[in-house]
Amino acid sequence: MQLIIINGPNLNLLGKREPEIYGNQTFEDYLQQLRLKFPNVDLHHFQSNIEGEIISKIQETGFSFDGIILNAAAYTHTSVGIGDAVKAITTPVIEVHISNTFSREEFRHHSYISPNAKGVILGFGLQSYSLAIQSFL
Ligand code: DQA
Repeated sequence: MQLIIINGPNLNLLGKREPEIYGNQTFEDYLQQLRLKFPNVDLHHFQSNIEGEIISKIQETGFSFDGIILNAAAYTHTSVGIGDAVKAITTPVIEVHISNTFSREEFRHHSYISPNAKGVILGFGLQSYSLAIQSFL
């Protein structure tokens, strides 16, 4: 089972970014926990603050990997290009958010990813990623 977590802008700051919303743990640290928890999953990780790099990674993995776990972060709410990339590929995509975007500002209530995602998991903190992996097993 080959899965990739693709994280969008500012998620490289997890651990120090708005900890009251996103927690104290760095993603690298959490990734180690995930790899221990799912030893049979070949778990890849890619983070970028650049929209086009995220689109390229979706294209690159979207015809061969078993699943993509995508937290496009702020681009979720703005990027027609990432939405189109998710639509274009054959690999199923689970959209993930750390926070419950529906309990936050109105501009976070719309997603360009959701219409073409296999499912959406949000609001469980970093555990949202673990739940997304489980959904592929
Ligand atoms: C986020 C929610 C987005 O609205 C926000 O822009 C992020 C993170 C989340 O994981 O909760 O950067 O995707």
